[in-house]
Amino acid sequence: MKNIYNDSKMIDPTTFLKFLKGRRSIRSFQDKPITEKELEMIIEAGRWTPSASHRQPWEFIIIKNKETLEKISKNAFYGKFIKEVSVAIAIVGKMKTSSKWYIVDTSLVSMNMMLMAWSLEIGTCWIGAMNREKVKKILGLGENDYLLTVLPFGYIKGDVPDPKPRKPLNKIVKNM
Ligand SMILES: Cc1cc2nc3c(=O)[nH]c(=O)nc-3n(C[C@H](O)[C@H](O)[C@H](O)COP(=O)(O)O)c2cc1C
Repeated sequence: MKNIYNDSKMIDPTTFLKFLKGRRSIRSFQDKPITEKELEMIIEAGRWTPSASHRQPWEFIIIKNKETLEKISKNAFYGKFIKEVSVAIAIVGKMKTSSKWYIVDTSLVSMNMMLMAWSLEIGTCWIGAMNREKVKKILGLGENDYLLTVLPFGYIKGDVPDPKPRKPLNKIVKNM
C-alpha cells in the first residue's frame, strides 16, 4: 500500500483506538498560548478533511482577539471557558457550496481538528450551546454562513476528566 504521506506506515491500530478512547473534552486551560506551529497543524488537519463531492464547503476563522473571545464567551451558555484561551477557531459551513452536506462536512473538520489537538496534548471542546445569531454577528458572518462551532484551543489545566461511560455495544450494534 503506497502512501506518499506516511511512507506506507499506517498508525498502529491498537495505539490509535487507545488514543481515540483517551480523548476528552477539555474546559479548563492554562494561561499560555499554543504555538503557531501547533495551530498550523490543527488547521492543516481541518483542511485535509474529506467532504461530499470534494466541495470543501468551509471556512475557518482564527480568533486571537481577546475582546472577541470575551464577547463570544458572553454568548456561549455552556462555553464560557472560551475566554481562557488565546486562540479559537470558528468552523463555518458555506451553505451555498454544498447545500446538502455543509453540516456533515464541517462536523468532520471539527473532529479532525479536535483529534490533532489531542495528539499535541492541546485541549479543546465543541461549543454548541451558544447564541448562534449573536456570535455570527460578532464574527461578521453572512446569511449563507452556518456557524457550526467555535473550538477553543489551549494547554490543559489540571487533570484530564475521567471518561464518561459509553453505551454498551449490545445497545448500539445490530447484527443482521
Ligand atoms: C455537537 C456537540 C455539541 C457540544 N456542545 C457542547 C457545549 O456547548 N459545551 C460543552 O461544554 N460541551 C459540548 N460538547 C461536548 C460534549 O459534552 C462531550 O463531547 C461529551 O460529553 C462526551 O465527552 P468527551 O468529549 O470528553 O468524550 C458538545 C459535543 C458535541 C459533539
